[in-house]
Amino acid sequence: MSEKRRIVVTSALPYANGDIHLGHLVEYVQTDFWVRFQKMRGNECVYVCADDTHGTPVMIRARAEGITPEELIARSHAAHLKDFTDFEVAFDNYYTTNSPENKELSERIFSAAEKAGYISAKSSPQLYCEKCGMFLPDRYVKGTCPKCGAEGQYGDSCDHCGATYGAEELGNPVCTTCGGTPSVKDSEHLYFELEPQHAYLEKWIPGHTTSDISNKLLEWFKEPLRGWCISRDAPYFGFEIPGHPGKFFYVWVDAPIGYIASLSNWCAAHDEKLEDWWNNPDAELYHFIGKDIIRFHCLFWPGMLHSAGFKTPTKVFVHGFLTVNGEKMSKSKGTFVNARTYLDHLPASALRYYYACKLGGTTDDMDLNLQDFVTRVNSDMVGKITNLASRGAQMLNKNLEGRLGTLDEEGRKLVEFARSRAEAIAANYEARRFSQVPVEVTRIADAANEYFDRREPWKTVKLPDGAEATRTTLTTILNVFRIIAIYLRPILPSYADKVAALFGESPYVWDDIAKTVENGTIGAYSYLATRIDAKQVEAMVEKAKVKPAESGEVAHESRASKNKAKSTGHESRTTDHEPPLKPEIAFADFEKLDLRVGVVRSCEIVPKSSKLLKFELDAGALGTRTIFSGIRGAYPDPASLVGKEVVFVANLAPRKMSVGVSEGMILYAGEPGVSGGVLTPFASAGAGTPAT
Ligand code: 2FM
Ligand code: ZN
Repeated sequence: MSEKRRIVVTSALPYANGDIHLGHLVEYVQTDFWVRFQKMRGNECVYVCADDTHGTPVMIRARAEGITPEELIARSHAAHLKDFTDFEVAFDNYYTTNSPENKELSERIFSAAEKAGYISAKSSPQLYCEKCGMFLPDRYVKGTCPKCGAEGQYGDSCDHCGATYGAEELGNPVCTTCGGTPSVKDSEHLYFELEPQHAYLEKWIPGHTTSDISNKLLEWFKEPLRGWCISRDAPYFGFEIPGHPGKFFYVWVDAPIGYIASLSNWCAAHDEKLEDWWNNPDAELYHFIGKDIIRFHCLFWPGMLHSAGFKTPTKVFVHGFLTVNGEKMSKSKGTFVNARTYLDHLPASALRYYYACKLGGTTDDMDLNLQDFVTRVNSDMVGKITNLASRGAQMLNKNLEGRLGTLDEEGRKLVEFARSRAEAIAANYEARRFSQVPVEVTRIADAANEYFDRREPWKTVKLPDGAEATRTTLTTILNVFRIIAIYLRPILPSYADKVAALFGESPYVWDDIAKTVENGTIGAYSYLATRIDAKQVEAMVEKAKVKPAESGEVAHESRASKNKAKSTGHESRTTDHEPPLKPEIAFADFEKLDLRVGVVRSCEIVPKSSKLLKFELDAGALGTRTIFSGIRGAYPDPASLVGKEVVFVANLAPRKMSVGVSEGMILYAGEPGVSGGVLTPFASAGAGTPAT
């Protein structure tokens, strides 16, 4: 093997504001395959990641829950890490962007860029909401498109005509948090100027990503590059910009710096120097990202690093989005599945195996076809591959004292064939053509199964003098299987580790392929993988289903779930989840609602329901009302709502639900678990008061 490489690898940092879902896992799982492969090859490889904690959505959600942003991000961090660990995604460090290292590095990089003349200040009109006491990010305001007049458009671009504009250009703007009318106020902002690096970046991009991506990015280079707005006004959950009081780094500034901060934190814990890893010209640096965040990683990020004298990435590896059953993931169809929901129904190894089958190292979207998933796992991973071990090892243990023999000529050839694929498989891993690995190993498994069936060990073992021939057959099978397990270890780590234990070996490295196991005794066989049932998948989908009335279908812009990529040079990714506007209603419809204020007397989790909370409201003159509300995702600690005033629809017909009768509807704005909160009166006159 060639010289040991020193490699730093990252996956994009998930927002602290949402759950990990199967779309996210496309990225983490493939990065993990690659990292584990590098480690098995003997390279020094460090895989770092972190929660992306800053920005408006976290601030607003924490406010709505009545907790601090720090409490919210601590909760997410624990949940995310647990999901990743259970999916066997093995980070060397999973940190947070809200760390002292990140603050220091963000300040350092900004100050270096400022000193080098890349930062400019410009005053521009922005929308300000008096009620919320904040400038509104583009995705927190809706209004009429200044170009085509379509209503209900966000502050950055129009879904109807595709125009891009400034939020202050919207007609009749409305703050989506409080419903108030924002006003236009001037605010000074800091811009990271990209034009001075026009030539540098134009040259940099093609060498550091694939041609499809680079061609797209280079489109922007036909004109001068626009500056990137990197500041946000207080209140903002993030780092204050040194020398610019009241201004905070936009979340997309300190998020990628969080890669370095996580690495720095890892270095400190491992007695290593950051300079030997990040800025070392001999070290390699790779970012795995989804195609929705290309311009942050291939334009702003190298620009920022270069301007501050930091090393830029060796390559940015871009993957496509996940579709499920050929369509965009859908909450109402139950195909928008959270990592935890999956794990409650199915083994992580099955998804890892299936994703490997589908990942070709390109930016094409990837489909998780749920029927094909069951078939592929059962027929290949279990039927063809695992059966070799379960039949071979169990037969050897049961009939032949678990003792291996030696290979005969035919066995040696078969093992040699398995071994001969090592470099081809390694090349596929290296090039992230993970889908070729299952293809290669099933080909080997097919040959082994053919050999097994032809040698009929289940018959020879019964012959009076058949023991040694049977032992030879099983020794061959187990040697071939062992090599397959080594090939699969990056994809199925705990599976391969159980195989190593079966042979009394340490966890495998790539070079273990060269060894033949003969004459020793194997250990007890422990189950490696079992068949999955379509019923498990159905139950998962059922569990993941959110009734349209409860959630609204969501326009997901989340990494690795399908979305439309924006092509403007200006950022506006302030939130990822906003339901589309419902059809217009007449005033007469609205007038029918009897909105009242109630005080929450008790609020409890409904057993066996992942979504419902049971409220007892003191509704003043109306007495007590019991209301079931599907907003548990927003209030993991329902007791925090007790004593709060909420607005509810008092004249909604009582609704019989499986858990009881619901006598009204509590008003909630946003998407439970993602953004928003229950509506509370700004100034109220007490329980049961009509709110309109
Ligand atoms: O798109 C996202 O989910 C972002 N949180 C990714 C950040 S990646 C990096 F730049 F920090
Ligand atoms: Zn507001």
